[in-house]
Amino acid sequence: MQSKMLGVGSYVPEYRLTNAELERLVETSDEWIVQRTGIHERRIAKGKRTADMALAAAQQALADAGVAPEEIDLILVSTVTPDSLTPTVACRVQAALGAKNAAALDFNAACSGFVYAVEMADSYIRSGKKKRVLVISAERLHSVIDYTDRTTCVLFGDGAGAAVFAPSGDGSGVLSTYSMADGTMGDALYIGALPVEDDPFGASRPTVTDTRYLTMAGNDVFRFTATAVPAAIDKALEQVGKTADEVDWFVLHQANQRIIKMVAKKYGLDERKIYINMDRFGNTSSASVPLCLAEMKQKGLLHEGQLILLAGFGGGLTYGSALIRL
Ligand code: UT7
Repeated sequence: MQSKMLGVGSYVPEYRLTNAELERLVETSDEWIVQRTGIHERRIAKGKRTADMALAAAQQALADAGVAPEEIDLILVSTVTPDSLTPTVACRVQAALGAKNAAALDFNAACSGFVYAVEMADSYIRSGKKKRVLVISAERLHSVIDYTDRTTCVLFGDGAGAAVFAPSGDGSGVLSTYSMADGTMGDALYIGALPVEDDPFGASRPTVTDTRYLTMAGNDVFRFTATAVPAAIDKALEQVGKTADEVDWFVLHQANQRIIKMVAKKYGLDERKIYINMDRFGNTSSASVPLCLAEMKQKGLLHEGQLILLAGFGGGLTYGSALIRL
């Protein structure tokens, strides 16, 4: 039986990093940032870990779903910025929630993390292995951003989003999903992790800081989105014989307003059908899609029967989609 999204939640830190403040850090301008990206400000988690943000979003999603922590049997966390490799963010959240009947793991599909997680949650539920899956996407991107690099520091922000999935039973819920990667382009969006060393006992062991910061060949990734995003959208629609004009809301990864315009133009869509909050939160990697969903729900924009198309794309490079009947 397919799965249904029972509830959503989100958390964004209070501190607002504005374009004006970035103008004081690097050689940039509010005009450039707004014209090229659509971003006005992003949030920065001061004194909060990834797990703190994940927990706050999860608590809101559970309350929205009316599900108790003990009823959750799997916690999936997508993140490129875990607080530690072990314990995972998912295990920290499991402990803090008291979700004592849940398995828990982190995974990394970069900005496609939430749509990948929807596919995983749906697959676990369809197989009957799990009944209630808590999906969380939490990103503390400021920790991998070099605030002297104007090509990246104006783009990214921190935040978390979450959703609870359970068996549907009434034909609504996750209708189709798609996930794909093109690792040949992986270096176009790079964040280092553990140092790579040929001789672990050699004289010049590289330090973690050598590879710590995010670098991006923005133009290459932009070109990739021109084929990957429509491919993801088409694959989700084709599987169930739907067309783009039947979709009530498109919720795309919030990377650049120009990508939104490109999608609207390609499918002949009214841009108002594509939800946007990157103006206020910037690019929060995998958290961006559930941040949108939670905000849309709070604003009363989501109604039973609507068709929602989610699409993610980014580091890996990865891309994917999910078509959901509310
Ligand atoms: O979340 C994962 C997925 N990520 C994406 O989908 C991102 C896709 N890429 C993009 O959104 C865009 O490529 C960027 C927003 C990253 C960059 O925009 P762009 O229009 O592709 O700019 P560009 O890299 O071609 O740079 C144009 C000019 C360059 O100057 P020159 O060489 O023409 O003199 C840059 O040095 O803009 C300059 N520039 C800046 N100027 C002011 C780059 N960053 C800045 C900046 N402020 N912050």
